[in-house]
Amino acid sequence: MLLDGFGRRVDYLRLSVTDRCDLRCSYCMPQGFKGYEEPAHWLSFDEIERLLGVFARLGLRRVRLTGGEPLLRRNLPDLARRLAALPGIDDLSLSTNGTQLAKHAAHLRKAGITRLNVSLDSLERERFQSICRRDALPQVIDGLEVARSEGFRSIKINMVALAGTTDAEIDAMVAYCMERRFVLRLIETMPMGETGRSAGFLDLRPVRERLRERFGLIDGVVPGGGPARYLVAPDGSFQIGFITPISQHFCETCNRVRLGVDGTLHLCLGQNDSVDFRTPLRSGCTDAGLEEMLRAALHAKPWRHEFRERPQQIIRAMSATGG
Ligand code: GTP
Ligand code: 5AD
Ligand code: SF4
Repeated sequence: MLLDGFGRRVDYLRLSVTDRCDLRCSYCMPQGFKGYEEPAHWLSFDEIERLLGVFARLGLRRVRLTGGEPLLRRNLPDLARRLAALPGIDDLSLSTNGTQLAKHAAHLRKAGITRLNVSLDSLERERFQSICRRDALPQVIDGLEVARSEGFRSIKINMVALAGTTDAEIDAMVAYCMERRFVLRLIETMPMGETGRSAGFLDLRPVRERLRERFGLIDGVVPGGGPARYLVAPDGSFQIGFITPISQHFCETCNRVRLGVDGTLHLCLGQNDSVDFRTPLRSGCTDAGLEEMLRAALHAKPWRHEFRERPQQIIRAMSATGG
């Protein structure tokens, strides 16, 4: 079992397979962004498989593929197949913006990805375009329909609640998800990079209470490894999660670390602490050496983020760390 310095069990790795993205969501990536990692620094599938194999022997159970937009990484289903086969890994999931999902959903499902989280901030085409800076809503909706027919164990919709998000827009998303049996999650915007800081944060606590009343929801539990707190319909027909890093942080139960495309292990989304794994992987480090490094890294995992106290400190865009 892998414990951090505070006794928290870390069994969830978010793996960013690319820092590139085909959207430019206003809260995430700056327009005209050029600071991409060079391909020579991307961990290869062999390197990822080896490192995660070591991690899995120490107690890693869940892996989530993220980005940037993970479906932009070529041959992603091959990597998924290799990771799904690692002994100990029993939950392999993907977070995507959905623009390429129609084309890839069947391959991903066959490769062993069982749970899918898809970003969708608006069902209004013009609003989607103004948030994500591309007219891509029809492709995302199409991708979700294809995914629905592929039999994923769960499909969750991630909606970042921006200061301008109206109750009407949230209710429309609730209706859309109810009809399709998607789990909806509302997310508070975090001050990640300049883009995250300027996006405007909406406190989700009053939204949660309004939705509880309006739809007769009760507290509930939904499978997954993340920090969302859920309300559910008593008959099980609808589930909605709230991810509230700003109004109610959840660091005391944090169970995850993030591996960037360049092999940097980020120990906390809201802190700059990190450990380079690319250099040891490329300079003959043994598995025992990697194990030792992982244990030491986890021991140094920070206790909590400081988004409220020090909102200026994270200069990475979310796409660089893994969304
Ligand atoms: P499940 O396993 O389905 O629960 O997924 P998840 O919620 O862990 O993954 P997803 O990629 O859907 O994450 C949704 C959002 O939650 C992310 O885009 C972040 O905004 C936020 N989030 C995830 N992990 C963390 C974390 O460790 N700290 C903070 N502050 N936010 C996080
Ligand atoms: N705050 C909160 N979530 C963010 N994401 C990206 N930037 C931010 C931010 N500043 C998350 C969203 C999106 C996923 C890819 O990354 O959940 O759906
Ligand atoms: Fe791309 Fe996701 Fe960032 Fe949007 S939030 S720009 S889809 S990485």
